Amino acid sequence: MQAFKTWGENLISPLINPAKFDFWAQQLGTTHAWGRCFARVISVVSQSPDTKTLTLKANRNWQGFVAGQHCNVTASIAGRNITRSYSISSDPIDGRHIQITIRREAGGLMSEHLCNDIEAGDRLELGRPFGDMLLPTPMPEHLLLLAAGSGITPMISQIRTLARNGMPSAVTLMYWEKTNTDFNFAHELRSIALNHPNFEVHLITTREQNEESVSGRISHELLSKMPNISHVDQAFACGSSGFVEAAASICKHRKLPLLSEAFTPSQAQTSNTEITQHDVYLRRSKIHLRLSNQLPLLEQLESAGVSVPFGCRQGICNTCTCTRISGATVDDFSGGVDNEPSQIIKLCVSRAAANIELDL
Ligand SMILES: Cc1cc2nc3c(=O)[nH]c(=O)nc-3n(C[C@H](O)[C@H](O)[C@H](O)COP(=O)(O)OP(=O)(O)OC[C@H]3O[C@@H](n4cnc5c(N)ncnc54)[C@H](O)[C@@H]3O)c2cc1C
Ligand code: FES
Repeated sequence: MQAFKTWGENLISPLINPAKFDFWAQQLGTTHAWGRCFARVISVVSQSPDTKTLTLKANRNWQGFVAGQHCNVTASIAGRNITRSYSISSDPIDGRHIQITIRREAGGLMSEHLCNDIEAGDRLELGRPFGDMLLPTPMPEHLLLLAAGSGITPMISQIRTLARNGMPSAVTLMYWEKTNTDFNFAHELRSIALNHPNFEVHLITTREQNEESVSGRISHELLSKMPNISHVDQAFACGSSGFVEAAASICKHRKLPLLSEAFTPSQAQTSNTEITQHDVYLRRSKIHLRLSNQLPLLEQLESAGVSVPFGCRQGICNTCTCTRISGATVDDFSGGVDNEPSQIIKLCVSRAAANIELDL
């Protein structure tokens, strides 16, 4: 089939303009496309009062994913294409049927849309899956999974994958939610634990006691109470940036290797450089701004009323890239200043280091 498809594509490729093909496919509301990956919503299921799982069927441009990865999801909301990153919660074995699980954030543009408005039959666009919080090969003897809130989504994909393979290593999941009713996949997690003695699940609430009487925020003391915790040789953590930072500090203290992923950006760090303002010119919109060198450009452009597409706000998804035509910016990751003309920068992790001109 793949060979035929490649042969067929090769034959008609010279006659097709892929961008135009995909544009018209989008206008017609079909999921067929030459290069882009569109997906049809097959079902929408409530997981908990604030969370929905969407099952999607992607078109043939979907190349599969590895458990633990996320992808950019684009929806048309009030005539605008909005993109956010979502982890894939299903097992990769399901092929082009994939699931994403979304927690509604009050006032959140995309999560409100996906939880309140989206219906079976609607269409979304998917980006290429990416992310590094992947199950190691070979598996460690004992893996500790630390999840908070929506941070469970990449981990349920990994747990489903491990369960399908007979749970080859010992796995302990510690999963935090505010209250008992907020837990996602609780029934499935308990059932996997019943069927696989080397999988342990601890559901922990931060705002009320639960049946297992485990409650409280992540702490060194709470981890110490878990049976067999001293045997753990690798940890994963996923959740808000505050949760992931706390997990990182605890794991460092225990000398435990950690792979982590934060769903919210860290609190903006102010730089050590002297506070100053620079001229920022947006060439296509012909807008002149004065922006500080202390905060990422994306944040300041939004405050100035300039709408810029974004996904992760942490420099990983490339949605906010734009060309810096001239001037210099500081990259938040490397701390390096770049003043090469016509460079592509990520606005969410770049700050002005001189007067700049952007292709916006
Ligand atoms: C790698 C990665 C994986 C992720 N995976 C998942 C996942 O599996 N499931 C999941 O649910 N989420 C996931 N997220 C988070 C997701 O990408 C979105 O950030 C989340 O759904 C919120 O997007 P939104 O458009 O609803 O909120 P946005 O509109 O971006 O707003 C973000 C926050 O700001 C607040 N806000 C917005 N506008 C205003 C305003 N004017 N005044 C005050 N506050 C305001 C909102 O209430 C909201 O809390 C992931 C993020 C990353 C980076
Ligand atoms: S929003 Fe993802 S890289 Fe900037």
